[in-house]
Amino acid sequence: MKIVVLTGAGVSAESGLGTFRDKDGLWTRYDLNEVATPEGFARDPALVHSFYNARRRNCIDSTPNSAHNALALIDKSNAINVILVTQNVDDLHERAGSKNVIHMHGALMRALCADCGKRWDAPDEMSPDDHCPHCQAQATRPDVVWFGEVPYAMPQITEAVAAADLFVAIGTSAEVYPAAGLVELARGETLEINLEPSARANAFAAHRFGPATETVPQWVSEIMG
Ligand code: APR
Ligand code: ZN
Repeated sequence: MKIVVLTGAGVSAESGLGTFRDKDGLWTRYDLNEVATPEGFARDPALVHSFYNARRRNCIDSTPNSAHNALALIDKSNAINVILVTQNVDDLHERAGSKNVIHMHGALMRALCADCGKRWDAPDEMSPDDHCPHCQAQATRPDVVWFGEVPYAMPQITEAVAAADLFVAIGTSAEVYPAAGLVELARGETLEINLEPSARANAFAAHRFGPATETVPQWVSEIMG
């Protein structure tokens, strides 16, 4: 059985990482135009680095929750081939043991050189004074996809969703495209697992509502038989 799982900030909420659009979510406390766009980075790289340094620190200090751990269990099944696509930039899926995780919005723990395009493991703290370890340019940035930039691995992701027997979206408000549009490409079963109906809830055939640490382990134990 081929399953594609798409996760959003809701799967990491109970690890203390917060979300974007819930009450006191990140975008209620920061102006995304200042900290999550190429223009914002060009205007004030120190502000953007400090925003991601704070999120990286939170991520390092957090631990995977039972939803991450349950999703990692699916890798152990011989009967299920799961591809885990995440909008999240934290590394909690990997730390829970999930294998092929596709970070369509990039990864907090990775750095990118805006000049030569090389990537490396990000230091805990990044700054505009850093130099690229490959080309020495003073052009390092967090390897995250900002608004207005193209998400990673979309051809691979769209192909996997179209070929899946089941497409499951977990902990996402479905407010941001192209992630929110993936459900339209699904040809098999579709399931939304979220705290409450998302903006695309009516595009899913089935729904399970509640905190991910309850709903996800329950669902995984059912599909693992
Ligand atoms: N369990 C399950 N779902 C939860 C929980 C929880 N404990 N807490 C919150 N949620 C749900 C909310 O109901 C909401 O639908 O998670 C969703 C979080 O939505 P957003 O904050 O919009 O996060 P996300 O959908 O991942 O945002 C998508 O937007 O800002 C960009 O790049 C950023 O990847 C992000 C993208
Ligand atoms: Zn470089």
